[in-house]
Amino acid sequence: MKNIKAIIFDAYGTLFDVNSAAEKCKSKIGDKWENFANYWRKTQLEYTWLRSLMGRHKDFWQITEDSLDKSMKAFKIDIGMKNELLDLYKILSPYPEVKETLEKLKEKKYKLAILSNGTPDLLNELVKSNDLQNLFDDIFSIEEVKIYKPSSKVYDMPIKKYNMKKEDAAFLSANTWDVSGGGNYGFTSFWVNRNNNIFDNLDYKPKNEIGGLNQLLDIL
Ligand code: LAC
Repeated sequence: MKNIKAIIFDAYGTLFDVNSAAEKCKSKIGDKWENFANYWRKTQLEYTWLRSLMGRHKDFWQITEDSLDKSMKAFKIDIGMKNELLDLYKILSPYPEVKETLEKLKEKKYKLAILSNGTPDLLNELVKSNDLQNLFDDIFSIEEVKIYKPSSKVYDMPIKKYNMKKEDAAFLSANTWDVSGGGNYGFTSFWVNRNNNIFDNLDYKPKNEIGGLNQLLDIL
């Protein structure tokens, strides 16, 4: 681990809880809020992969809205809640250990960056609304290359900017497919497995597995 120069974080699901928007509306949505949130997330991701394969790019905010429309229909949720859910998606909550861990990593002089499907505006607003804006050296958005993860064009961005070897970047994601994508690309991968999930069968095993970002401090 001593050659690690930069720590690259996935955003949605890794730093920020994608279910927190629906969770904040659970009194209105009722018990189905969690199944609805998972369906929305799954549909959103499917749309990123499908659009990349079809060569029909739309930005992540439009995809988030398109997938919300389908999910609200599927779960028979009152369309009047749409704007509330979208507004909450712009200010998703971070996981509890995120801020303190980032502050400690910054003291250790690592380069810290986000590498995400989100648009630059969305990502900037997310870090600002959670008071994390001074902790990152860079926020890399796939809008620069107009193709979604797990395209290698996405993972190339920080390597080119920091002019480093792929394995000198620690890449953290809670999304198993993103760990496979980044790890297959050549990053030193960390799977953030907060909920005892099962990893994918994509001929790749994560180099490291941690239960929360704070465990990174014991390894680096
Ligand atoms: C992102 C998606 C994978 O932030 O959650 O890139």
